[in-house]
Amino acid sequence: MTPRTPEEVRAFFDAHRTVRQYVTGEDGSPLPMPEEHLDVLLHAAQRAPTDATAQLYSFVRLVSPEVRARVAELTTNAHVQTASEAFVVCLDVRRVGQLLRVAGHEVGHWPAIGVHFGIGDAVMAGQNLLTAAELLGYQGCWIGGVMNGLEGLLDVLALPEGVLPFAALTVGLPAETPPQRPRVPRSLVVHEDRYRDGTDEELRGAIEVMNPIAARGDQPGDWARLLRAYWAPGGGMEKREPHLVAALKRQGLWAGEEEGATVPPAEAAPAREG
Ligand SMILES: Cc1cc2nc3c(=O)[nH]c(=O)nc-3n(C[C@H](O)[C@H](O)[C@H](O)COP(=O)(O)O)c2cc1C
Repeated sequence: MTPRTPEEVRAFFDAHRTVRQYVTGEDGSPLPMPEEHLDVLLHAAQRAPTDATAQLYSFVRLVSPEVRARVAELTTNAHVQTASEAFVVCLDVRRVGQLLRVAGHEVGHWPAIGVHFGIGDAVMAGQNLLTAAELLGYQGCWIGGVMNGLEGLLDVLALPEGVLPFAALTVGLPAETPPQRPRVPRSLVVHEDRYRDGTDEELRGAIEVMNPIAARGDQPGDWARLLRAYWAPGGGMEKREPHLVAALKRQGLWAGEEEGATVPPAEAAPAREG
């Protein structure tokens, strides 16, 4: 490929928007995506790099209107029903166990490692898919709202042990033009040689920069208030916590605490082959 210029790369990433309203058919049904577009999105997903060669993820493509409707309800994100394509992106440590079994090997015990590697793989594959979609002129939306209805999703999608939704992902032609949403200043997220806490002044500056992301209609944004609604005591994340723990346990992914467990000295992992 001919290298792109820095300006072209910047322009591509600056065009990213999370989009929640999509062009639909007249009756509001999803506008079908050309087969070759879907094919290249899935190809891009599978070209994602993967640690230890394992590809610890699965996508559930949401095809039937009934399943779309149920997932929209469970995730509290209505646009699951109207997007051209919608997926539930899952970490999947099941398949590697099945591969070991058919090859005549046993599966080790590594629930925490499984969550770490599985989420990493799922995110990389999903984001590759979304980037490919954006290259084709689509936009999309990651949907962490899967956490609002995890147990229901396990049932509806028949997710077996070893498989857990990370997020849903919708893609479609944009029917809204949201403004570019801000990010915290780079100096707070990129550290040099060692970690550095931001000063109170830098943190207050970051809140100022981020405030527009919380604006609703004519209401000016208050990002700290939005963060409070998610992350403060009694907020949305505390409500989600027990459901995620329950789902991790149900799917055999709970590392838990072992009484008196000691951490053995680190040993080098086997040399990587891919
Ligand atoms: C893992 C993840 C989960 C998200 N969950 C939701 C969601 O459930 N519903 C939603 O409308 N947007 C969701 N978003 C979109 C974010 O709100 C959006 O990325 C953020 O506000 C920044 O906006 P931008 O992507 O347009 O720059 C999610 C994004 C990510 C990466």
